Amino acid sequence: MQLQHHISLLPYNTFGIDVPAAHLAIITTPQHLHHISQLPQPVRILGGGSNILLTAPVPDVVLLNRLMGIELLHQDQDHVWLSVSAGELWHDLVLHAIGQGWGGIENLALIPGTVGAAPIQNIGAYGVEVCSTVESVTYWHLTDRNFVTLITPDCKFGYRDSIFKQELKGKVLITSVVFKLTKHPTFNTSYGAIEQELQQMNAPPSVQSIAQAVINIRTSKLPNPKITGNAGSFFKNPTISHTQYSQLLAQHAAMPHYPVGNGWVKIPAAWLIEQCGWKGYRKGDAGVHNKQALVLVNYGAATGNELWQLSSNIVDSVLQKFGIELEREVQVW
Ligand code: FAD
Ligand code: EPU
Repeated sequence: MQLQHHISLLPYNTFGIDVPAAHLAIITTPQHLHHISQLPQPVRILGGGSNILLTAPVPDVVLLNRLMGIELLHQDQDHVWLSVSAGELWHDLVLHAIGQGWGGIENLALIPGTVGAAPIQNIGAYGVEVCSTVESVTYWHLTDRNFVTLITPDCKFGYRDSIFKQELKGKVLITSVVFKLTKHPTFNTSYGAIEQELQQMNAPPSVQSIAQAVINIRTSKLPNPKITGNAGSFFKNPTISHTQYSQLLAQHAAMPHYPVGNGWVKIPAAWLIEQCGWKGYRKGDAGVHNKQALVLVNYGAATGNELWQLSSNIVDSVLQKFGIELEREVQVW
């Protein structure tokens, strides 16, 4: 494993922030994992860099996870079990699955990043979270120097959350994920504009048509990181108590909301941000996307600190207007 020095991270993050890393190493085989402990410590891990905001030069070793391979472990009449190396691109896995007619992850088409990062924040879109198809996650423990496999109930999956974002944060490198996909898909078309998009496409629901519908919707709303730097939703959608919700509704009758059980209500952060007047805002090259207020964008030369400052201003104004404190989804380095 070759260690490179003073490397720009510009090609490795979708926000398009140009900061250097003191050292960079690319993990391409499991053997490389045994050498990590000989590198300067601590180390940090990057997959596709699509959920990261870089605010300063990184003084550590950045490990780029490029472990590749998709293996069909087992199948029966109804299901397939795939072991997928963590460096595979998530969308390539979706294409592989829908190409075979296997269902379960078609609603998660076009999410950037790697398979290894998918369980970390339990990626989700269009009514599906990845945890519904994950059987187990295998990681390399950076200090214990061994492989551990966690079955799904032990991964503590939640909304944009898991044990890998909490107790195990910074301690492990996810090396592979086992997925259980179905040969007899039942379709989830209830979220957002999927039904409408399928009608426009004049296509009956199938894993392929749903993936295409999701791709069409996402392409129309979200900025393409190859053109405009971004990391998807910058904040999580907040969950508030029914009491707080009722009080807010009295003042904001049009407030969209989604009950999430036990008296809790989810409010779209994009709506809160838009109501505060931020949608389409731009200062220098840091801005708020004009089609999706939850997405902060880098129009070219914004720094991580400028984007961080913008996110702080948004948090402050939403707190002041609605009494709701937004939590950042993006990881900040
Ligand atoms: P990175 O950004 O490289 O890393 C994210 C975090 O995980 C970091 O803390 C990193 O240290 C850690 N990490 C990465 N790989 C490993 C590993 N193998 N082992 C241990 N730690 C690791 N997310 C959604 O959930 N739903 C969406 O619909 C969605 N849409 C998006 C749309 C756009 C345009 C963009 C740019 C992003 C979107 N995202 C979405 C966010 C992002 O794509 C996901 O969070 C994705 O899983 C991040 O993968 P990555 O490989 O780029 O992770
Ligand atoms: N809305 C506004 N203004 C906007 C955009 C949206 O008011 O500018 C309101 C509308 O009421 C809309 C609602 O927000 O109905 C929800 O919007 P959308 O369907 O676009 O979803 P979101 O809540 O903004 C979430 C995820 C996305 C995921 C989509 C689709 C989070 C933090 N974000 O966005 O995930 O792709 O749903 O399922 O949960 C990501 O995590 O990076 C990400 C992009």
